[in-house]
Amino acid sequence: MGSKYLVFFTLFALASFVLASDPSPLQDFCVAIDEPKDALFVNGKFCKDPMLATADDFFLKGLNIPGNTSNQLGSFVTPANVAQIPGLNTLGISLVRIDYAPYGLNPPHTHPRATEILQVVKGSLYVGFVTSNPDNRLITKVLYEGDAFVFPVGLIHFQFNIGKTQAVAFAALSSQNPGVITIANAVFGSNPPISADVLAKAFQVNKKFVDRLQAQFWMDTN
Ligand SMILES: *[C@@H]1O[C@H](CO)[C@@H](O)[C@H](O)[C@H]1NC(C)=O
Repeated sequence: MGSKYLVFFTLFALASFVLASDPSPLQDFCVAIDEPKDALFVNGKFCKDPMLATADDFFLKGLNIPGNTSNQLGSFVTPANVAQIPGLNTLGISLVRIDYAPYGLNPPHTHPRATEILQVVKGSLYVGFVTSNPDNRLITKVLYEGDAFVFPVGLIHFQFNIGKTQAVAFAALSSQNPGVITIANAVFGSNPPISADVLAKAFQVNKKFVDRLQAQFWMDTN
């Protein structure tokens, strides 16, 4: 009986570890390389032979260049994750630069695999996140240059430029591959679309309203 519990507990502990965050690396680094399509990808990508790693595997240029915010949301996210920096593979960390036009919005979204800490470098942002059910408490703050704010893993959050000038923020995320789910895009812009009957009932509106939302172009700035 005791050993059965031990096995169960160990399996549970392993499972929750794997699901909770990027794994702690068992080597100095594991520079990502692409492998044949039928290969297995476990906790990241395949590793380059460490002897072949170079400084460029750990390097990214251009985060001083503003993103193009000429879009319907007035924001743009420039990522620096394992897709841009292969040396981040298995290390559980990444970075983004976010540019905001005056009154630009980084719309409500969530990172399924990462907590985020954002620092305002220029301008002022109204930011917030919503806690999970049943409270769904909205926690907000107005941030100015030099201020930092945390968005806990998985929670829906946003940033809105309340200033009359461009704003810039950098954010660190606790995954090499944080993932993004933009709420409006996922709900109203899925491919194929979610049935209008489902959305009409879920949002307690008529189908015409759902049709209108589904016909929108849901800009993806992330
Ligand atoms: C920014 O994006 C807009 C809309 O796509 C485009 O018209 C414009 O040329 C872009 N500006 C720059 C500097 O790339």
